[in-house]
Amino acid sequence: MTTLKEKNIADVMKERSSIRNYKKGIKIPSEKLEQILQLATTAPSSWNLQHWKFIVVQEEENKKRLFPIAYRQQQVLDASAVVIVLGDTEANKNAETIYNEAVKAGYMTEEAKNDIVNNIQQVYQNVENVGVHEAIRNASFAAMQLMLAAKANDIDTCPMGGFDPVALREELNIPDRYIPVLMITLGYAEKPAHQTSRFPLEEVVIHESF
Ligand SMILES: Cc1cc2nc3c(=O)[nH]c(=O)nc-3n(C[C@H](O)[C@H](O)[C@H](O)COP(=O)(O)O)c2cc1C
Repeated sequence: MTTLKEKNIADVMKERSSIRNYKKGIKIPSEKLEQILQLATTAPSSWNLQHWKFIVVQEEENKKRLFPIAYRQQQVLDASAVVIVLGDTEANKNAETIYNEAVKAGYMTEEAKNDIVNNIQQVYQNVENVGVHEAIRNASFAAMQLMLAAKANDIDTCPMGGFDPVALREELNIPDRYIPVLMITLGYAEKPAHQTSRFPLEEVVIHESF
């Protein structure tokens, strides 16, 4: 088996596809799962506010609770794990902690920290819906990294937006502060993904301006 280090990132991207049929009853080794989650947290984020939380569901009983919420999509039951990626709509509240650490580590001065923290609070106070937009945008980067890190570890995934967010919040006691952005199944493929295609580059790239 190729280890993470030996895999080329472009190959990992090309090999990833949305797997909906998983081998049942296989547990992902906890150190592997931890490594995947750790890699997901290396994602970039606005002001490094790290607008993400991950709910990791592995118990059969708890996957069963997710099944109706995910509109009875079978992969939720069969996958080894389901990770719910949450976006933090109040990530500005993390600023002080994150930037205090940066000062402590010698990455910036106290003065620079105060400027940036002040700037963040101003934006969060004054820009309409900034908390929600930033939560979804930034948590999505972590979600993508999680899927690539999983694939690099020979674990397949399926990103899922097909779930009832209100029912999910209630079932898992998700605080109002967090938005469920994506459900991701993780496991070992039983069947390959449906084949998909992409628009050719000339249809998606606009040079300089529309
Ligand atoms: C935001 C988002 C939501 C998705 N929701 C679902 C879903 O609820 N169920 C599902 O089976 N696939 C879902 N998918 C997977 C897409 O169908 C899939 O990514 C797309 O068809 C391209 O195929 P590929 O991922 O295999 O390349 C979702 C993908 C994304 C990015």
